Amino acid sequence: MGFFITFIIFIIIIIFIFSSKKFSPIPYFPSQPVDIPLIIKALNLKNNQTVFDLGAGDGIVIFSAAKSSYQQKLNTKFIAVEINPVLILVLHLLRLFHPNRKNIKIVHDDIFKMNFSQLSINNYQLTIYLYISPWFLEKTILNIKNQINKFETVSYMYPIKSLKKVGQRPIDLWSKKIIEGKNRIFIYN
Ligand SMILES: C[S@@+](CC[C@H](N)C(=O)[O-])C[C@H]1O[C@@H](n2cnc3c(N)ncnc32)[C@H](O)[C@@H]1O
Repeated sequence: MGFFITFIIFIIIIIFIFSSKKFSPIPYFPSQPVDIPLIIKALNLKNNQTVFDLGAGDGIVIFSAAKSSYQQKLNTKFIAVEINPVLILVLHLLRLFHPNRKNIKIVHDDIFKMNFSQLSINNYQLTIYLYISPWFLEKTILNIKNQINKFETVSYMYPIKSLKKVGQRPIDLWSKKIIEGKNRIFIYN
């Protein structure tokens, strides 16, 4: 009986965390497994590159990309940023068993406000992966643009309206490519 009540309380806490605006402002949906090879292609893995998954979920993208990088013997760094404490726990557990764990960092933070300067990413080419709803995409991109001068972005399913050619500064000159998978993958660089 005691075990049953503990189990029910555990399930209620999990449901509360996944439905709360504070712990999960954007609902958790993983990228489609069938599109992962195309997403890895879009990330264009290379040496001296840092790949962020902002709102990393269970890490399907970051762990698959880190595995590909490991197989290619690259020194690419991977940073998974997540706000949901349950998913943070899952990410830490999965990282423990990953062959490329030394190049993977898990960060518990809010992608709308996070400070990139604390992450020692100097001199690395930055690639940001995003799979979040359009209205949150713009908010996240604004926070990145306010702190970082040069980065590439891969957006799953949704285009990013603010990344288009305007003005003359490097940060204003974006080119867009699209890969057609089960869902579209937008690449901005
Ligand atoms: C649609 S899922 C995408 C998961 C993963 N990137 C993937 O492609 O499989 C969005 C994720 O963003 C997380 N998230 C929502 N708001 C966030 C915030 N403000 N800061 C950090 N992560 C957030 C959610 O918890 C969820 O795991």
